[in-house]
Amino acid sequence: SSCPKMWIGYQCNCYFISNERKPWEESKDFCASKNSSLLQLQNKDDLDFMNHISQRFYWIGLSYNKERSAWLWEDGSAALTPTLFSLLRTVNISNCIVYSSSGFLDEPCRAEMHFICKQQLI
Ligand SMILES: *[C@@H]1O[C@H](CO)[C@@H](O)[C@H](O)[C@H]1NC(C)=O
Ligand SMILES: *[C@@H]1O[C@H](CO)[C@@H](O)[C@H](O)[C@H]1NC(C)=O
Repeated sequence: SSCPKMWIGYQCNCYFISNERKPWEESKDFCASKNSSLLQLQNKDDLDFMNHISQRFYWIGLSYNKERSAWLWEDGSAALTPTLFSLLRTVNISNCIVYSSSGFLDEPCRAEMHFICKQQLI
């Protein structure tokens, strides 16, 4: 594949799985510095990919937008996966979201967690 070194190619995307733990904002900045975004679970490929990696929880690219009163991905689209949607109605909107193949949790955004970046191949 044509993914950068240390990244994993899966279908049409490259994924970076951090060994380090960082707060959510720093994780987001790290991905941006690599021309990528914190993981957005947008399609079956992303979910399949998560099923192939460890059960650990990782920061993903969802944040709560106060003006729109909604949880949004970095590209401004809404999180509409049914399981995710039902979870998001119950979580603390001051927190950030971690995901593993076994589910979602909210954690304080300043907590240091592993994270996943995703870069779309054109
Ligand atoms: C990110 O993209 C810019 C513009 O295409 C490029 O100059 C830069 O080398 C890229 N950085 C990385 C880490 O891939
Ligand atoms: C919501 O999360 C914030 C930040 O983590 C925390 O300070 C606050 O106590 C939480 N509120 C509730 C109701 O759990």
